Amino acid sequence: MKKTTLFLLSLAVLLAGCSERGGTLPDVPLKDAYADCFLMGAAISTFQVGDRSPETRELLLKHFNAISPDNELKPESLHPRPDVWNFQRADAFCQFGKENGMWILGHTLCWHNQTPAFFWTRPDGQTMSKDEIFESVRSYVETVCTHFLGKVDAWDVINEIVSEDGGYRDLGWVHALGADPAVVDEFVKHVFRCAEKYAPGTELYYNEFNCWRPSKLAGIVRLVKMLQADGIRIDGVGIQAHWGLGYPKNEYVVDAIEQLAALGVKVNISELDVDVLPISKDAQVIGRSLRDPQYQLEEFEAFLDPYKEGLPEEVEDQLAARYEELFRIFYEHRDQISRVTFWGTHDGTSWKNGSPIPNRTNYPLLFKRDFTPHKAYYSVIGIPLGK
Ligand code: GLA
Repeated sequence: MKKTTLFLLSLAVLLAGCSERGGTLPDVPLKDAYADCFLMGAAISTFQVGDRSPETRELLLKHFNAISPDNELKPESLHPRPDVWNFQRADAFCQFGKENGMWILGHTLCWHNQTPAFFWTRPDGQTMSKDEIFESVRSYVETVCTHFLGKVDAWDVINEIVSEDGGYRDLGWVHALGADPAVVDEFVKHVFRCAEKYAPGTELYYNEFNCWRPSKLAGIVRLVKMLQADGIRIDGVGIQAHWGLGYPKNEYVVDAIEQLAALGVKVNISELDVDVLPISKDAQVIGRSLRDPQYQLEEFEAFLDPYKEGLPEEVEDQLAARYEELFRIFYEHRDQISRVTFWGTHDGTSWKNGSPIPNRTNYPLLFKRDFTPHKAYYSVIGIPLGK
């Protein structure tokens, strides 16, 4: 009998004595409850693993066996100016993961966001030619992949290049290339080929938000097939999973997992959180409009930031129910999913407190600001135990 199966059985016996979910269940590490299913990850900043937040570090080490860097390995952090390279914080992140036997993601090589414009702009302000852009990305991928070779287990090679309608997003690298889909196809292949060359032995992923949207999913499937048709290595796709209490529909999530897995690549749930706060209808797609200063006015506060003093019991229950239905899907698809990573450890570390509307109090993760578990944590660990 597998060690983890034994562990789960003894846990099940323990749980049989617990009548009420939330508080009476033993504190089982998430990574142990799901040891036979997939890796359990969290995104972290370097300061959270240093001395500034020992409680966060403790939570992380107890529950998670995989880490993603929230910002440290993005282009603007590693290479903020043409003559500056910063590797210290990123190296500290990798070192922490290695010392604690964790699986480590490199995130991300090629993205339109958090990437300085000099990557595709000449010093005189003109946009680079196609050849210069291809060389710029090649040399960045070479430097970074070489530096982190053996330090990260996988790279998100390209992040968020597909648009909601399945085409390419006319931003960053794509915009500089003139947004011609044929040229961008070539660019995508080029970036993956570079990663394959400079990051041997490292898994290579495509990572994307709103993967569940059928039109966007079709664009991602096309991208993966395009790489595969040319014999270019792609090992996995990350479904970001920045979701909410009421969206997306579960059937879309199932469909995305199954369609991607059918391509023969690993599926990762790469950036999971569940937003509990109200947003206007357009916010999920055009979140930036909600950064308008008017939303900081007092009259909006009561509606848009209602849980400043704590999460009401009924919303705790909704959060638990939502996490339960999502993890049931992940559990049922455990043969196709290799990792589930939360974007943060506890609510206080979540970007959802600042996005899409700044300065709110959100509760999107399994652990509260005081490091204690939400009810949702108990729903999640109950699933592999058949509870
Ligand atoms: C995106 C990126 C992440 C992170 C999150 C939110 O989805 O992939 O690196 O920036 O948004 O913070």
